[in-house]
Amino acid sequence: MQITYGPLSPSEWERYKNFRLKALKEEPEAFGAAYDEELLFPKETWQQWITNMMFALEDGTIVGMIGAVPDASLPKVQLVSFYVLPTKRGQGIGAALIKNMINKFAREKQIVLNVVPTNIDLMPYYEKLGFKVIEQNNEGYLMQYQQGHK
Ligand SMILES: CC(C)(COP(=O)(O)OP(=O)(O)OC[C@H]1O[C@@H](n2cnc3c(N)ncnc32)[C@H](O)[C@@H]1OP(=O)(O)O)[C@@H](O)C(=O)NCCC(=O)NCCS
Repeated sequence: MQITYGPLSPSEWERYKNFRLKALKEEPEAFGAAYDEELLFPKETWQQWITNMMFALEDGTIVGMIGAVPDASLPKVQLVSFYVLPTKRGQGIGAALIKNMINKFAREKQIVLNVVPTNIDLMPYYEKLGFKVIEQNNEGYLMQYQQGHK
């Protein structure tokens, strides 16, 4: 099956909402968020959030996602909401999502992500993709993409 990568428009917010809420319900530890709260978020919130998202689509169906939240004052984005459907994992979809974000932002911005203690096993994976730990904080480890990584 062909996987394509790209944004969805704000008018498609319900597809994103359904995908995220299902992921949040099934694997809450992967997100720093609460299903019950997000269920109540208004349409406007989803329409705003979707503008930061990149999706992996298989025949038009969402199978993965990643978000890049911009910093208001610094040339920096934080990668969040990194998720691939369990049945689609291990095929390089996650790596392709991250590489898409690197291609989009690396020239102008620092790219960081937080690894929470429950996801510590993923650190070597992020290192392979060009990220390095720059800080240990309350939430776990902050990793930053190293410019020029091949
Ligand atoms: C992390 C995630 C998005 C990766 O998606 P994916 O499409 O399977 O990624 P890829 O196919 O590019 O790569 C899979 C790699 O992740 C590694 N991996 C995935 N989950 C892992 C885990 N829990 N522990 C250790 N390694 C893990 C695999 O070993 C593989 O490594 P390899 O490249 O050396 O073979 C997916 O596993 C997922 O959605 N997990 C649940 C949500 C989550 O934890 N998100 C990250 C929050 S920091």
